[in-house]
Amino acid sequence: MRLDRAASLAGLTRSEAKKAVAAGRVRVSGQIARDPAMQVDPASVSVDGGAPVDAGPSFIMVHKPAGVLTATEDRRLPTVMDLLPDSMRRRGLGPVGRLDRDVTGLVLLTDDGQLAHRLISPRWKAEKLYRAACEGRLTEDDVRAFAGGIALSDFTARPAGLTILQAGEDRSLADVTLTEGKFHQVKRMFAAIGHPLISLQRLRIGPLALDPDLQPGQWRRLTDSEIDALKEECQMIYRQ
Ligand code: URA
Repeated sequence: MRLDRAASLAGLTRSEAKKAVAAGRVRVSGQIARDPAMQVDPASVSVDGGAPVDAGPSFIMVHKPAGVLTATEDRRLPTVMDLLPDSMRRRGLGPVGRLDRDVTGLVLLTDDGQLAHRLISPRWKAEKLYRAACEGRLTEDDVRAFAGGIALSDFTARPAGLTILQAGEDRSLADVTLTEGKFHQVKRMFAAIGHPLISLQRLRIGPLALDPDLQPGQWRRLTDSEIDALKEECQMIYRQ
């Protein structure tokens, strides 16, 4: 987060925060900092010698590798939380929705419960984008089947988008968009059309895209504009 935005969390307007930075009233880890655009961890910022500012909820994107659980803790297996340094593991921080152990890609971690709820609730219809490799040749019939809503043993999936990227005899590649996320849903939908999945990666949750520079196992904080876009998607910006 920018230094001036972090300083404003101490109760200043953005322009007051800029002036406070210029006046040398803002410290980062105890040292006076004068660059308002400097990227900082808000928990290390204090104004006028006060306590560190309250950063509010945290938002972190993780590129989940295969073999890692989307959980906050597990006695046997590594979880997405184990990918973070100890200093980042705030109380209440956890994954938004779940990816299966063998599925890779974007996991959002936050301690903002309302935003997390809205992103996974089928009622809010936040779109998730997956890239799927499957067995056999996908055809326009499969695209129509996804669009029509695939009947599974216990429910009928909502209409979903299927965009074929490559269609080979043995293997195809496609992008899938869903507005719900039931247990093993994408795997079950592909199995139902006779194309078992080979691999699955999540690329996007609502407006939040997996950063292509983030390697499997790496994480980063969301930028201010990514957080604003998520809040906008979840209608959590209340204009007066
Ligand atoms: N669909 C699946 O089958 N697995 C996931 O992890 C996510 C969506």
